[in-house]
Amino acid sequence: MSNVTVVSLGGSIVVPDEVDTAFTAQFVAAIRSRLAQEPQRRFALIVGGGATARRYQEAARSLLPDVDAYTLDEIGIAATRVNAHVIRAAFGDLCRDPLVTDPTRVASFTGRILVGGGWKPGFSTDNVAVRLAETLGARTVINLSNIRQIYTADPKTDPDATPLSSVTWDELREIVGDEWVPGKNTPFDPVATKRAAELAMTVIAADGRDLFNLAALLDGSSFVGTTISGTRAPKPDRHGRSG
Ligand code: UTP
Repeated sequence: MSNVTVVSLGGSIVVPDEVDTAFTAQFVAAIRSRLAQEPQRRFALIVGGGATARRYQEAARSLLPDVDAYTLDEIGIAATRVNAHVIRAAFGDLCRDPLVTDPTRVASFTGRILVGGGWKPGFSTDNVAVRLAETLGARTVINLSNIRQIYTADPKTDPDATPLSSVTWDELREIVGDEWVPGKNTPFDPVATKRAAELAMTVIAADGRDLFNLAALLDGSSFVGTTISGTRAPKPDRHGRSG
């Protein structure tokens, strides 16, 4: 099903604090217009937890300071699903199938938009998107978050960190590690990184709030982001643009 574009839609952009209905409406309109331009195109969107997950996980932690990671993950999964239901509702009749809760078992995909949330403890929705791409036979996942590009290191703590327009899976594994640490913010989930690398997928990370840039990415024109793939892409131009 190569006409399906799989997107990991970061919770941080849908629910930075409250549900950002202004952004969500614009995002839905952008995807709707893309569908109108491309009659064969379909989208599968896996929605993250954002502030919903963080808030409820913090509440659990304050009630039981040594609450286990599994329980926190379960709370996070519930948050991703409630956010996903909101996105599903926003697409109205473009979305005819039930919410995806297990990316390895997708009963049907009859609408033009399929929406899902978290699956099970031990990883984030990035990994759900990779697994869904695998199920649907898609070779690329678009990872939309609130960062424009992946950096060589965490730019908040390392002043020497520089943005990358392309990175190989091996290089990314050095940046994000191999292990799932709940609450640790990595540009792409380590479990998803391992799986996508094994499958030789391409993941394109970009800032989902910049809908102009997203349109360029979907058009196949020049965009700002980071392409993760098996091999190193040619050097970007001086504006850091790739694609
Ligand atoms: P997110 O996918 O939003 O994870 O799921 P994240 O890394 O915190 O946020 P992004 O990727 O920057 O948007 C929220 C939380 O839900 C749990 C995890 O605890 C995760 O941190 N979760 C989610 C799971 O345990 N399994 C899933 O399949 C999805």
